Amino acid sequence: MTANAAERVQHEGLRAKIMSAEQAASFIKDGMNVGISGFTGAGYPKAVPAALAKQMEEAHERGEQFTIGMLTGASTAADCDGVLAQAKGVHFRTPFQSDPTLRNSINAGEVNYVDMHLSHVEQQVRFGFYGKMDVALIEITGILPDGRIIPSMGVGTNNEWMKAADKIILEVNSRQHILLEGMHDIHPDIGTPPNRKPIPLEKPDGRIGSPYFDIDLSKVVAVVVTDLPDRNSKFADPDENSKRIASQIIDFFSHEVKAGRLPANLLPLQSGVGNVANAVLAGLQDSPFENLYGYTEVLQDGMLDLILNGKMVSASATALSFSPEALQRFNDNIESLRSKIILRPQEVTNHPELIRRLGVIGMNAMIEADIFGNVNSTHVMGTRMMNGIGGSGDFTRNAFWSFFVSPSVAKDGKISCIVPMVSHHDHTEHDVMFIVTEQGMADLRGKAPRQRAKLIIENCAHPDYRDMLRDYLDRAEKAGGLHTPHMLNEALSWHQRFVETGDMRVK
Ligand code: COA
Repeated sequence: MTANAAERVQHEGLRAKIMSAEQAASFIKDGMNVGISGFTGAGYPKAVPAALAKQMEEAHERGEQFTIGMLTGASTAADCDGVLAQAKGVHFRTPFQSDPTLRNSINAGEVNYVDMHLSHVEQQVRFGFYGKMDVALIEITGILPDGRIIPSMGVGTNNEWMKAADKIILEVNSRQHILLEGMHDIHPDIGTPPNRKPIPLEKPDGRIGSPYFDIDLSKVVAVVVTDLPDRNSKFADPDENSKRIASQIIDFFSHEVKAGRLPANLLPLQSGVGNVANAVLAGLQDSPFENLYGYTEVLQDGMLDLILNGKMVSASATALSFSPEALQRFNDNIESLRSKIILRPQEVTNHPELIRRLGVIGMNAMIEADIFGNVNSTHVMGTRMMNGIGGSGDFTRNAFWSFFVSPSVAKDGKISCIVPMVSHHDHTEHDVMFIVTEQGMADLRGKAPRQRAKLIIENCAHPDYRDMLRDYLDRAEKAGGLHTPHMLNEALSWHQRFVETGDMRVK
């Protein structure tokens, strides 16, 4: 046993269960449902998935079937989702992913992917919608002498997976900073309808649970010790478009504060995944706002820097998803950050009750929006899955304000992100309050569909596409149906043109 293992696995009984990743992986058999930790590339197991993928490949070479149903909190990374997909070892996957290899398998029809609101997944497993949970495979920071578990940088669904599973495999990762201990707030149970009680969280940095997972130790069949790093990549530095998007949102906040409709320190901020959402938070760095609070699902580099620079008082999240550079900043400052960051189960961070109570400002990125304010977050050209809806629906529907941000065009201008009709529908016009591109912002609140269309076209669409959109709306209005004017035979013709010619513009 290594020194690290002795240090991190302090429970005698569980020390006796330390074994190699290969031995641990052998508890996972063909057809099993495996609940795996991991949330946007944080806190996912690394050693056992690689060993499991190898065992799958060997089984396939022998002509045997070996695939699993894989459930997580959200996305993992190449050394978990990626290796298992590469080994053709996943037949079912939920609720979110962002790995290129797995994405290709999903789009090739090899993996049944259920893309769902992250706040729903634990409840659906609890009620058995996905069958039995055979094994929970969870990365953790350490095990105390009495068996309580120190969670890792991602909480996600871990508690629920360990409750639901017949067997538990723990990957104790000594690379996870030991001072993570105490940063978690594990609310034991949100209860079961019809006897659910309110979740007693009234401010973003309140605490309502324990810092530890309290699990049934008799279910632990293996403990694997690793020190492998998370494989998160660097965020793109905010480009001009992202900076313009950020500055419009910040100007709007200033305007609303001045008008007395928003507190001077705003309301708790949620920021979605991806480069653009991260850039919006980076923009707040140079804003006049102080004493901000974060109530978000994933805490990325932008929010970490707001805390480190004293702009943000504290943030609540379910996972810390940092670039390698930001991880270094986090580890270097963990003493001071411990009291400012709280990590909770995703069922709590994404719970509609809390998002509505706290009055969260939701800011998420999108693939495209249509002229009436419907948003597609997930599907390229209506068919190819990108990542998934993640928590964007949980936040958008329940936020005090819900923003969607995107550059107005993609792929060197060949794609307009403002289209006549979205090619896939994730967020409806009823939930989407603001659309922001580098061109401008459309405040859709209190506007009827045709008013929204004019605002979105004039404020958000790229100039290259504005006339085309005006023409579409004009002819649709002439065709009748003056509440939400559409020409059904043309509504998706821009996407069709891109598929056929590689460009949405008419040549
Ligand atoms: N059509 C086709 N491709 C598009 C597109 C469109 N309308 N809009 C963007 N893209 C492509 C970009 O070209 C880029 O492709 P690349 O990876 O080949 O360069 C890719 O999508 C990402 O775009 P980018 O502008 O860098 O945005 P991002 O990194 O901010 O990601 C989403 C945007 C929508 C993919 C991402 O935010 C997401 O997955 N959202 C859904 C989940 C979510 O909102 N979670 C929040 C949790 S609370």
